[in-house]
Amino acid sequence: MTASPASPDALLAATRASYDAIAPAYTETYPDILGDRPLERALLAAFAELVTGNGPEPVADVGSGPGHVTARLHALGVPVFGVDLSPRMVALARAAHPELRFHVGSMTALDLPDATLGGLLALYSVIHVPDERLPAVFAEFRRVLVPGGYVLLAFQVGDGERLRMTERFGQEITLDYYWRRPEAVAAALTEAGLPPQTRMVREPLDEEKRPRAFLLARKPG
Ligand SMILES: C[S@@+](CC[C@H](N)C(=O)[O-])C[C@H]1O[C@@H](n2cnc3c(N)ncnc32)[C@H](O)[C@@H]1O
Repeated sequence: MTASPASPDALLAATRASYDAIAPAYTETYPDILGDRPLERALLAAFAELVTGNGPEPVADVGSGPGHVTARLHALGVPVFGVDLSPRMVALARAAHPELRFHVGSMTALDLPDATLGGLLALYSVIHVPDERLPAVFAEFRRVLVPGGYVLLAFQVGDGERLRMTERFGQEITLDYYWRRPEAVAAALTEAGLPPQTRMVREPLDEEKRPRAFLLARKPG
């Protein structure tokens, strides 16, 4: 795994600015990432069933982006809200889904009390968290979950490398991507007290370059 070159705050600010710059193009390009993905939709439906069966507590979609997956969970009967680092993403999500709540915030320090969430969804958002910050992010996930609460993570698979992207959708950005092995992420979850219950990896589809991993973990209790 690779060490980050800048301070954590500077990296977070760069990630925020990058997503602010690309938010409209990102939202237009990926209007519904689960639309033609039956396996992912099935996993999301299972997650919805597990969290609603567990209790009435809300679910946070962390790194909710345009909010389309938040809306899918809502349609499945889950009391869900979105949290995203990028104010522009949050504005777009609110405009597209005025019936739902979206907040600006970071998974590195969630503005939520302890043990209040029944579930936490993080689809392709921990991919921007540097390796050295991942344990603290997973500890934060554990802190906000009720005992028995679930986490569902999705990320592109790699071998621990970091890619810095400096241009996307014609915008100048500074956005780091971390491609990890599912076993490494599963070990970090276990270490944080969120043992994985289910692991799924699927091969790339269409224009995708990397396999996709999905980990479902649960806070004991
Ligand atoms: C690749 S997009 C994924 C969006 C959405 N989950 C989806 O699957 O389409 C990553 C999102 O995570 C957000 N993000 C990145 N770092 C974050 C952080 N530390 N806390 C909260 N959101 C973050 C970005 O602003 C962006 O909207």
